[in-house]
Amino acid sequence: MKKIKIALLGFGNVGRALAQLLLEKREVLQKRYQIDWTVVGIATGRHGSVVNPAGVDLSEALSLAVADKEISSLAPNDTDIDGVAFVRMSGADVLFENTPVNYQTGQPAIDYIATALGMGMHVITANKGPVVHAFDRLVELAQTNGVRFFHESTVMDGAPIFSLWQEVLPAAKLHSFRGVLNSTSNLILTLMEAGKSFDEALAHAQAIGIAETDPSGDIMGWDAAVKVSALVTALMGIPLTPDKVDRKGIEDISLEAVIKARDVGLRWKLICQAWREGEGVEASVGPVQIDPNDSLYNVMGTSSAVTFVSDVLGDLTITETNPGPHTTAYGLLADFIRAVR
Ligand SMILES: NC(=O)c1ccc[n+]([C@@H]2O[C@H](COP(=O)([O-])OP(=O)(O)OC[C@H]3O[C@@H](n4cnc5c(N)ncnc54)[C@H](OP(=O)(O)O)[C@@H]3O)[C@@H](O)[C@H]2O)c1
Repeated sequence: MKKIKIALLGFGNVGRALAQLLLEKREVLQKRYQIDWTVVGIATGRHGSVVNPAGVDLSEALSLAVADKEISSLAPNDTDIDGVAFVRMSGADVLFENTPVNYQTGQPAIDYIATALGMGMHVITANKGPVVHAFDRLVELAQTNGVRFFHESTVMDGAPIFSLWQEVLPAAKLHSFRGVLNSTSNLILTLMEAGKSFDEALAHAQAIGIAETDPSGDIMGWDAAVKVSALVTALMGIPLTPDKVDRKGIEDISLEAVIKARDVGLRWKLICQAWREGEGVEASVGPVQIDPNDSLYNVMGTSSAVTFVSDVLGDLTITETNPGPHTTAYGLLADFIRAVR
């Protein structure tokens, strides 16, 4: 049995869903993969941190976090440590990095991840920032240190996208992709089509934990642009930052416009796409009225879908319905098993 020491940096919607899933799947990991785990540290932004080489009681940590209480009561240590100090102190084999995304720079998560990789820890993240702002550097650092840097949950939550291209489709060349990749904006447009105001729809997205910590990133298309950048960077091998994506969000789509489209059988969608142009790539995010013949027409609510066009399979579409922190957690768990097996 492999005994893996885990550190959780970020213990919000995703970090807590991962903790829950680790507890639920403990027996399967032991029996099927001969993997057992101990959480040796948990860090948050404003709710303290805990490091304990003997193991942190994860169920107790979850209870405290759900009650919005400090987790530092679980073990006596300095609660003011920053993420880099936490990584250094943790002594973990695997770091799960799930702090809020920074669309512009990817920091401070890049520093946390680079520190962990440099110390020989596998790193698994749902945070898109480091993937688009430091992909080559982090992959190289992982290779140099003989560990893995995995990020399946950064796009379409737990749906297999990156692992699909890394492992299941060898030697394939991705020409282009087109999809609906931002759950919050798609849910808002869906609810507006049912007559809800923009604000009511946004409040619902926040209540179910789908909207980002700062929802303006979802609404103005930054989240979608970062996802497009992550796919282009990791799957097409062309580094692309979100500021290079031709981006427009749903902020100017009025309830009247949504209803008007609906009444003539059309539907607004925030369409994300990228295609190769010579040695480079063109990428865009923007609201488009699509008709029922479009494969993205029935992608409703929080669902996402992407169609990949490659040199070997033509069109290949992946759709996910009802994602949430629990499906994001599954992508992290799948990465965990891939990394430590
Ligand atoms: N929610 C989803 O379904 C989903 C899906 C795919 C990807 N993601 C990505 O997953 C990441 C986490 O999302 P989330 O929904 O879990 O966010 P969240 O609920 O806001 O949780 C963020 C966590 O990070 C902590 N944190 C903030 N700043 C920190 C810092 N400087 N150092 C250490 N910890 C810090 C927060 O602590 P405090 O609360 O104490 O400040 C909190 O525990 C984001 O990058 C997001 O883009 C989320």
